Amino acid sequence: TKGAAMVTAVACRVQAQRKQIDKVLALFQLTREQLVGVRDKMRTELEYGLKKETHALATVKMLPTYVYGMPDGTEKGKFLALDLGGTNFRVLLVKIRSGRRSVRMYNKIFAIPLEIMQGTGEELFDHIVQCIADFLDYMGLKGARLPLGFTFSFPCRQTCIDKGTLVGWTKGFKATDCEGEDVVDMLREAIKRRNEFDLDIVAIVNDTVGTMMTCGYEDPNCEIGLIAGTGSNVCYMEEMRNIELVEGDEGRMCINTEWGGFGDNGCLDDICTQYDKEVDEGSLNSGKQRYEKMTSGMYLGEIVRQILIDLTRQGLLFRGQISERLRTRGIFETKFLSQIESDRLALLQVRRILQQLGLDSTCEDSIVVKEVCGAVSRRAAQLCGAGMAAIVEKRRQDQGLEHFKVTVGVDGTLYKLHPHFSRILQETVRELAPRCDVTFMLSEDGSGKGAALITAVAKRLQQQRKE
Ligand code: GLC
Repeated sequence: TKGAAMVTAVACRVQAQRKQIDKVLALFQLTREQLVGVRDKMRTELEYGLKKETHALATVKMLPTYVYGMPDGTEKGKFLALDLGGTNFRVLLVKIRSGRRSVRMYNKIFAIPLEIMQGTGEELFDHIVQCIADFLDYMGLKGARLPLGFTFSFPCRQTCIDKGTLVGWTKGFKATDCEGEDVVDMLREAIKRRNEFDLDIVAIVNDTVGTMMTCGYEDPNCEIGLIAGTGSNVCYMEEMRNIELVEGDEGRMCINTEWGGFGDNGCLDDICTQYDKEVDEGSLNSGKQRYEKMTSGMYLGEIVRQILIDLTRQGLLFRGQISERLRTRGIFETKFLSQIESDRLALLQVRRILQQLGLDSTCEDSIVVKEVCGAVSRRAAQLCGAGMAAIVEKRRQDQGLEHFKVTVGVDGTLYKLHPHFSRILQETVRELAPRCDVTFMLSEDGSGKGAALITAVAKRLQQQRKE
């Protein structure tokens, strides 16, 4: 009969649509072989970055940090810390008490308007100094000349603990006249321009290093720092004899891998999708930070948006209508992805979140959106896990160990807010580095506390040299 034929036709269409959706989702499902491939390629790139002959061309830059070891618990005093490059810009006062290993912190968050992030370097640093001035006023510390640790979460080439030349901006920053300059000098000059207070800038620190330090303060097994947040990066303690760029063979030094640049030579092209390419092309640093763009909070929402646009174009979502909202860059922040993927959330609530984002969805739409988010974040966690497996395996082999037990200090909004990211990351590391026993330890406020700890150690060494 006619009715039955219509029902069959609808069923067929639904089935065909499902197939098209699955085809897109499948692009994000990596096989074990593919993940092993990623791990092994990461390993190769780590070695390239460390070696003199290959360093200049390496995509994973493996930058020496001049941090030689963990705090020993004798650190004490009052320190200022700046934290630039994550979700928020903050100024902190950190009080470290020796013995009890306790740290007290006071901080203030400041906005960095887009026009300053992407204006001139002078404007950016003047703004930073303005924020420091506000904070010092607020705390009643204007005349104090405290030692300061600067957590600056971008790739810097260092020759000592208090010098760092910006290699290139990443994430949402693009201020002019900074690349190739020493950012500590830029900060000092901005303080001089203001001519209102003086600061003793002791250390420049990557956020991964601060995170590792903070966890190392409590757990002696901690020798790796991971950020899975706006950006993605890892640092770890490497044997000096393997760091060809730095003189000396004794002991160890922390290396800031800048692994976000992994894939910039095309070595991940086989797993890159058209959506990844679109995200890259629409970014501030096209062609760069390819791995970061597949694994970090700043970009996952963008990948999701590109997929949703494509599915809508194919008539599989939102009644085939691409709204102005969906065309808007940056609508899916990490916190929305995390909410959408939360298992406790009913689909109705997913629809409500989409509504908040300005997207009118049916119940079917909300199911698809949730699946898309899941596929993208799952791949991100697996890729990050494959990278981590390369690091811990290298450390195990370098030490000639049968088994290697290590703690990774972690921070970042993606790791902390997302309902599945951390679990999938850990499962992947276990799978791809079975001889390593890796514990992930959340670092509460690693970049602020860690910067202060590094500053404390550096200050102590400075004074010892003077004596
Ligand atoms: C970007 C930066 C890196 C930082 C990471 C996490 O990858 O280049 O220095 O550690 O983001 O914030």
